[in-house]
Amino acid sequence: MAEAITLEKYLKINDKELAGLIMRIGKIAERISKELPYRRGKANTQNVFGETQLVADKWADEFIIKELRKSGLVKTMISEEQEDVVCLNDKGVFNVTLDPLDGSSNIESNNLVGTIFGIYKKDLPTKGKHQIGAVYILYGPVMTLVYATKNGVNEFLYAGKEFVLKEKNIKLPEPGKLYGIGGLRKDWFPKFRKYIKELEIQGYKLRYGGSFVGDFNQVLHYGGIFAYPSLVGKPIGKLRLFAESNPMAFIIKQAGGASTNGKYSILDINPESINQRTPTYIGNKKLINNLKKIL
Ligand code: AHG
Ligand code: MN
Ligand code: MN
Repeated sequence: MAEAITLEKYLKINDKELAGLIMRIGKIAERISKELPYRRGKANTQNVFGETQLVADKWADEFIIKELRKSGLVKTMISEEQEDVVCLNDKGVFNVTLDPLDGSSNIESNNLVGTIFGIYKKDLPTKGKHQIGAVYILYGPVMTLVYATKNGVNEFLYAGKEFVLKEKNIKLPEPGKLYGIGGLRKDWFPKFRKYIKELEIQGYKLRYGGSFVGDFNQVLHYGGIFAYPSLVGKPIGKLRLFAESNPMAFIIKQAGGASTNGKYSILDINPESINQRTPTYIGNKKLINNLKKIL
């Protein structure tokens, strides 16, 4: 059997510029996965979005901030759990966005949870298209780390004591097989409901787990569409532009797919606030193009 390619080795050959930061992220993920059994329950505080924070949300946020500050690699950061831009290190070369724990309402039921990073050189806030990389970790039955740069999307799995290459240069399978949509069906706008009905008739299967990282990862591997759409009574949807939608929009693009907020690519949204939400539709290019026409 050929020797496994470690994350470290892969980065050194393919993405030298990001090697230090992504290795650091890998170490952070390793620690988070080990701590999750012990960081349980509610924290009795709210984040800037008015959501009740869990002990794990707060701990992961503080831990990641501390680790990235120590690394000296990151200048500033926008986190889902922080109201303002956080300054980490003046000498840092990257600016980072963070969802420390994504899908944390899945913790109680032991379903999928993840962590999301967007990586920039430009100062924040800026458009998502200025990302130079994005990473997510999925704390699943096996912990996986997916990172994308303009060179492509690569997936690593944690095997024993380190991340090893599972698949390089991942492209979305055509045609897709799955769809996963957040929000209550009764609150979807009629045009969107009709679009999903069409997909169902074509044989697309519903797979929705309530964690963006988990639901996105299925689309990456089986093709299809994920959305947290514009809702009646909540037209901006739920997902956070910086912490969630931009990094995933960047990754899907590098995998040959596309994203939209209903009008244009998520990566082209001109940010008005670091805490803004956006309707999010992500998946195979053809599906997103058809959806754009309908919306
Ligand atoms: P977070 O746990 O970071 O607050 O994110 C939750 C998000 C996202 O992971 C998921 O797509 C969506 O919220 C799930 O929302 P519903 O519970 O409304 O399905
Ligand atoms: Mn999230
Ligand atoms: Mn979160």
